[in-house]
Amino acid sequence: MLTAACLSLCSCNGVQSALDPAGDEARQVATLFWTMTIGGLVIWAFVVLLSLYASRWKRQLISETAAGRVILWGGVVLPVTVLTALLSYALWLMPSLRPFAGGEDAHLRIEVVASQFWWRVVYQRPGENAVVSANEVRLPVGERVEFVLSSADMIHSFWIPALGGKMDVIPGRTNRLSLSATKTGTYRGQCAEFCGTSHALMAFPVAATEPSDFDAWLKVRSSPSAGIDANLDGRALFERKDCGDCHRVDGTAAQSGKGPDLSHIGSRLSIGAGLLENDEGTLARFIAHSASLKPGSQMPAYLHLSAEELAAIATWLKGLQ
Ligand code: CUA
Repeated sequence: MLTAACLSLCSCNGVQSALDPAGDEARQVATLFWTMTIGGLVIWAFVVLLSLYASRWKRQLISETAAGRVILWGGVVLPVTVLTALLSYALWLMPSLRPFAGGEDAHLRIEVVASQFWWRVVYQRPGENAVVSANEVRLPVGERVEFVLSSADMIHSFWIPALGGKMDVIPGRTNRLSLSATKTGTYRGQCAEFCGTSHALMAFPVAATEPSDFDAWLKVRSSPSAGIDANLDGRALFERKDCGDCHRVDGTAAQSGKGPDLSHIGSRLSIGAGLLENDEGTLARFIAHSASLKPGSQMPAYLHLSAEELAAIATWLKGLQ
């Protein structure tokens, strides 16, 4: 039991822990967890002590009236009170029951479309142009953000444990989730519903930053990267090899929305939806070996490209800051 307790407590910290909360909702979930755990332990200890008391130390008959009182208070009143309180609290925590569930006061809307096995992420501030990105979520701390979740193919589940509870993403339906980060940092989100071969590889980094840093970041992403006009060999190859049939790079002829948007991929925190670090080597590796790195993904492997060609495309992509 000690080992089990240690194992479960050792995993309380980290970028993907619901017990190391960095948001209002996650804090409520963690409070509920500790309330349930400590409450359960207290009741368990009480019942054990009571049965020891009755079976070892006080082995004598009690009157029928006293027995009736024990059953009434211990068997009816106490469980009904405790369970009603816990159930009410847990139900209140359900996203659709919260007072801010509609995101009325959200000045930032983030649309997330889940696909096998990546995330389209679109940032929308009222009265401003939408900014399209993929496979990572950035948000300002201290601000309530409304997530609008939909699916392009099958059931996925959007979950950032450090910020709040999970929400299923269902084809033909739009779900909403309201989250508010309270602590700057980089966390990890993960698809939490089995959705195919690479379900476990459908993750995304989450960066919660100061509002001014977030606004600066968003402003840069609202126009094409200066990098599109550098490393032109790579850009020519990208265009010649028809990468634009699936990807969009703002400011170029590549405008497809079939696959992840690559407009500013050079500055992303990871590539392949949380799969690899983002550098020129991993970019080249992913282009060549996507089929084995991410089984079942729609991206074909480009094994026929030479190492020089792969490096040129990777250099151009890394320059899209
Ligand atoms: Cu998407 Cu599991």
